Amino acid sequence: MKHRKYLYLAAAAFAISGCMKQTLITTPGGIVLRSQHISLPSHGREFSGAPESSVANTYCLMCHSGGMVLTQPPLDLAQWQNEVRKMIKVYGCPLPGSDVDQVAQFIAHASQNPPPLSARAEK
Ligand code: HEC
Repeated sequence: MKHRKYLYLAAAAFAISGCMKQTLITTPGGIVLRSQHISLPSHGREFSGAPESSVANTYCLMCHSGGMVLTQPPLDLAQWQNEVRKMIKVYGCPLPGSDVDQVAQFIAHASQNPPPLSARAEK
């Protein structure tokens, strides 16, 4: 799963930040809490390409970024339709069933025509 990569990055950032200056708090029970600074990879939060992007921006960004969706391995239209249905059934995305095809088509197209990297930087 894609997010496993983020865990490794977070663990690496955690380890590196251990070498930097930290805030230390010792609890009454003797547990030492260290503040950590980690950098997570960022990618565009919203889908670009209005007005076609508006339904996806309304329903697909509640739980994760558009960049996360667009950096998945390449899928064809039928796979994107299944993916969108999975978001509805498994995770509770409130997208109406009548919009599944439209969103799947938009994402299938957008995933093959990603915006330039400079446009994906987190704002
Ligand atoms: C209610 C929350 C929610 C909404 C809304 C939502 N998703 Fe997801 N999505 C998730 C969760 C949870 C995961 C799994 C994340 C993980 O594995 O770390 C996920 C993962 C994904 C993945 C990665 C592959 C996978 O199956 O795990 C894609 C692609 C994706 N979502 C697309 C979409 C699209 C397109 C929409 C809009 C139609 C959408 N999501 C809306 C919760 C949501």
